[in-house]
Amino acid sequence: MRIPLIAGNWKMNNTIADAQKLAELIVDFLNKFDKDREVLLCAPFTALYALKTTLKGSKVKLAAQNMHCEDSGAYTGEISPLMLSEIAVDYVLIGHSERRQYFYESDEFLNKKIKAALKHGIKPILCVGETLEQREANIEKQTVEAQIVNALKDVDVNSFENIALAYEPIWAIGTGKTASSEQAQEMIMHIRNVIKKLYNEKAAEITRILYGGSVKASNTTEIMSKADIDGVLVGGASLKAEEFIGIINY
Ligand code: PGA
Repeated sequence: MRIPLIAGNWKMNNTIADAQKLAELIVDFLNKFDKDREVLLCAPFTALYALKTTLKGSKVKLAAQNMHCEDSGAYTGEISPLMLSEIAVDYVLIGHSERRQYFYESDEFLNKKIKAALKHGIKPILCVGETLEQREANIEKQTVEAQIVNALKDVDVNSFENIALAYEPIWAIGTGKTASSEQAQEMIMHIRNVIKKLYNEKAAEITRILYGGSVKASNTTEIMSKADIDGVLVGGASLKAEEFIGIINY
């Protein structure tokens, strides 16, 4: 059984005080909520330590939005998996399209990050997705497949209990343009088949694969009705408590 994973990606938003306020509202809601959901907040680095206290004893999990692959060293401005494991974050986003696009992160680099996260007991959420040009050229499936093959190179089959993926078509991120639930299902089913081909049936069955891109309370039920979609990665709509709670409560 794949428990639905509802993840809020705050991106570069929320001061520590804002983060605590928003997290408290979500914790309060979840204390009175009994549907089977795993809820995750992907917060900026500066808020992670404080949020660990806010979330203590709650059902809400914590994620970083990025990390470096080395434990330490001369990498000015970077945050290491060792530092994140000290805070005991549960998850880390790896290869969000904004990291790929604005910070030129390659599949090879992401592969190192995934292995480093797993080594430190942090669950990676590998983000993949095509551009509008790639979709219009009908190469979206092979694009996403190549991202997965390269990012998971030499990752052990037993790691799949701790790996999630997020399919986020770049043309749907922050644009208000959601992929149709059929488009999302088709790609996510393809991703599951890629995992089966690369690894085995069990790995494909247990891996949670999320959809992300302009998810809001009003479209979550439709997205989550699809057989292969195991959760959502929510950007803009995760910044408002009421909207995010509506998504959790789809
Ligand atoms: P969005 O962002 O929900 O604002 O489209 C999703 C994401 O980038 O994870």
